[in-house]
Amino acid sequence: MLIKTTASESALITAASEARDKSKAKFSHFRVGAALETRSGKTYSAFNVESSSYGLSMCAERIAVWTAITAGESEFTRIAIVSDAEDFCTPCGACRQVLFELAGDIEVYMTNSKGDLKTERLTSLLPDAFTSKTLLNGRD
Ligand code: THU
Repeated sequence: MLIKTTASESALITAASEARDKSKAKFSHFRVGAALETRSGKTYSAFNVESSSYGLSMCAERIAVWTAITAGESEFTRIAIVSDAEDFCTPCGACRQVLFELAGDIEVYMTNSKGDLKTERLTSLLPDAFTSKTLLNGRD
């Protein structure tokens, strides 16, 4: 769904853009920034960091959620994702899984280089997710 950007959406998108500008994407040159918001209103932002052993590179979204979890956060509301691409920057499958397990059914703001915003809930991007409930026989 395409929507007009409100002030609070633009603040989160700006935090993601500022992170994108610091991206360490030496090999792909595909710069990504993510800004994850906690229920208490704090923002954790991160950018993708690439390795010369390509597969060891890491996406901005996973670094953002791991940083927040490491800081002791556990409740999240939204994440904004920004790249330089004309297409909307959607989270990769691995990030969808990790975000769902650690941040829950948050709102995902995806932007394109024209400044349009598309927003989806994480469960729409990752239906029927495998979770610890399945793994642990109904326990969380
Ligand atoms: N990347 C992200 O950081 N997030 C995404 O949502 C998609 C891909 C990074 C990984 C890699 O450093 C580069 O973009 C190209 O795939």
